[in-house]
Amino acid sequence: MKPSMTLLQRIKESADYILDNISLRPVAGIILGSGLGSFAEEITILKEISFSAVPHFPAAGVEGHKGALLLGTLNDIPVVVMQGRVHFYEGFTVDEVCYPVRVMKYLGIEKLFLTNAAGGMNPEFEIGDIMIIEDHINLMPNPLIGKNEAELGPRFPDMSTAYDPALKELAGRIATRQSLKVRKGVYVGVTGPSYETPAEYKFFRIIGGDAVGMSTVAEVIVARHMGIKCFALSVITDLGVPGRMEFLTHDMVRAAAAQAEPKMAQLLKELIRICPYSADNTVHHT
Ligand code: HPA
Repeated sequence: MKPSMTLLQRIKESADYILDNISLRPVAGIILGSGLGSFAEEITILKEISFSAVPHFPAAGVEGHKGALLLGTLNDIPVVVMQGRVHFYEGFTVDEVCYPVRVMKYLGIEKLFLTNAAGGMNPEFEIGDIMIIEDHINLMPNPLIGKNEAELGPRFPDMSTAYDPALKELAGRIATRQSLKVRKGVYVGVTGPSYETPAEYKFFRIIGGDAVGMSTVAEVIVARHMGIKCFALSVITDLGVPGRMEFLTHDMVRAAAAQAEPKMAQLLKELIRICPYSADNTVHHT
């Protein structure tokens, strides 16, 4: 990277590289979490671009996370999908973790749909449950720390509707129509990579959390900074509930996520199909 380049210049260079490769202009961005990458099979892919090909993109590395940007359509809606994301625990900065979301804005997205695997603290939850994220508690570094680029968004962005009320409501109605049991709750975003101790799960429950995971919150903060509407689903892959905790591995998380994935995909696919998109989603490039 040329050291003199500003964040905005880098974002535009990344977006221009992608837009030069394809004529499609996505209106929705989708970020797929651990064990949840097969949602990509629902997409009619027109172009697959590996993260490593895009200038300034962080390179994904973790097992279970394929680092590719898919451009295509989902029920004729133009979408961009991040198959695999990068995480703070991999050693990337939070800025790097969120960088692809910045670029998606400049590809033209107006809505961002995120999925993740999470541990459930709510004693009513079961492994394999799908949770609509109502709200979050961020326990990671805030990705907006540092100089603010006014063209991207305000210095002090509002977070009163971090997860779009209309999208949550619509998703709830779709789930009812599909006879799909969904949970609703607060997602606690932590750095990881160690899973929680029993005392930590208890603490996260006490402070108002229903589920805990190592992603999503930073991307949502950055998306809200730029005015993108967000919707997120967690798949509950393990329980941090007293008396029900088990020895946990990443393979167990991935397996539980993959098993619940079809339910999640059914809901997400319908939501992306029927939610409204404004006509004016144009981003002007210089
Ligand atoms: N804790 C944190 N992250 C996770 C968990 C968990 O229990 N399960 C899946 N991701």
